[in-house]
Amino acid sequence: MKKRILSGMRPTGKLHLGHLVGALENWVDLQDEYQNFHLVADWHVLTTDFEHTGLIDGMTIEMVIDWIAAGIDPEISPIFIQSEVKEHAELFLIFSMLTTVARLERNPAVKEQAKSLGLEESISYGHLGYPVLQAADILLYQAHLVPVGEDQMPHIELCREIARKFNRIYGKTFRVPEGKLTRFPRLPGPDGKRMSKSLGNVILLSDPPDQIRKVVMTAVTDPEKIRRNDPGHPEICNVYHWHRKFNPGEVPQIEEDCKSGALGCVDCKKNCADKMAVFLAPIHEKRAALVKNLDYVRDVLTDGTKRARTEAQKTMEEVHKSMRVG
Ligand code: TRP
Repeated sequence: MKKRILSGMRPTGKLHLGHLVGALENWVDLQDEYQNFHLVADWHVLTTDFEHTGLIDGMTIEMVIDWIAAGIDPEISPIFIQSEVKEHAELFLIFSMLTTVARLERNPAVKEQAKSLGLEESISYGHLGYPVLQAADILLYQAHLVPVGEDQMPHIELCREIARKFNRIYGKTFRVPEGKLTRFPRLPGPDGKRMSKSLGNVILLSDPPDQIRKVVMTAVTDPEKIRRNDPGHPEICNVYHWHRKFNPGEVPQIEEDCKSGALGCVDCKKNCADKMAVFLAPIHEKRAALVKNLDYVRDVLTDGTKRARTEAQKTMEEVHKSMRVG
């Protein structure tokens, strides 16, 4: 029996290179060795925006297209929608009884998010509790592993605490999962900040070569390399970091020529944009086919949701037995 992985993302529409490097590639690498369930966390969207719910369906489809285009095989790894497996809500309710408000208020990831959204005083009950919903997402599938970025680790810790507490009170019911940090640290945007749609510094997986070129040309490089012949410091250059990912073969030469002043930033950027476009070409090709066949994408979700629901129902039967409730 393969070990299980539950991985999830909020449906935020088209994905960018940060998603690819920080999460998706990792999911694809793990899909043969493990049994993967891929969750579209649409209820999680409501924590930060409960008004524009009409957008969620379209965002889901765009995101799932990128998942498949990047190499997720939905035959092997079900892709499913959280809100269509109602067991998530039931288990969330139960877990919310086992979790103290003080514990949730200590969560640094939620605190930071609330602060950056200016919600410190007015955070909703559901927003504060979203790591509990996430715990339900994970434990419903008895996952061994959860691939996450560093920022999500506090949620995994809470999830483990909830599993242990439930097991202690009602008898062993849940596997205690582990977080698996993604191999590649975050990819910088052109401005050196983390790539994020809200910062407007992204390169989308679906961006055509001319758009990629446009964004890459705006990238901040070594501020001391003003003229072409000035010696550069690649380690502090965002374009150099991109080369390491998308153009590893030329990295030693680029490093040498940047440092010596033989390579100017403009040429270096053009080269980088070209290599990114080459890297993304197979994803574009798959994407184009999927966009023309949206019925297939809908079928993937219907099928994945069915398979996920079967697993979720099994777990809930165990929960009912253990608790003697429900
Ligand atoms: N909270 C995650 C995010 O904001 C998304 C998510 C929801 C998730 N449920 C999950 C991630 C379960 C991993 C496992 O990105």
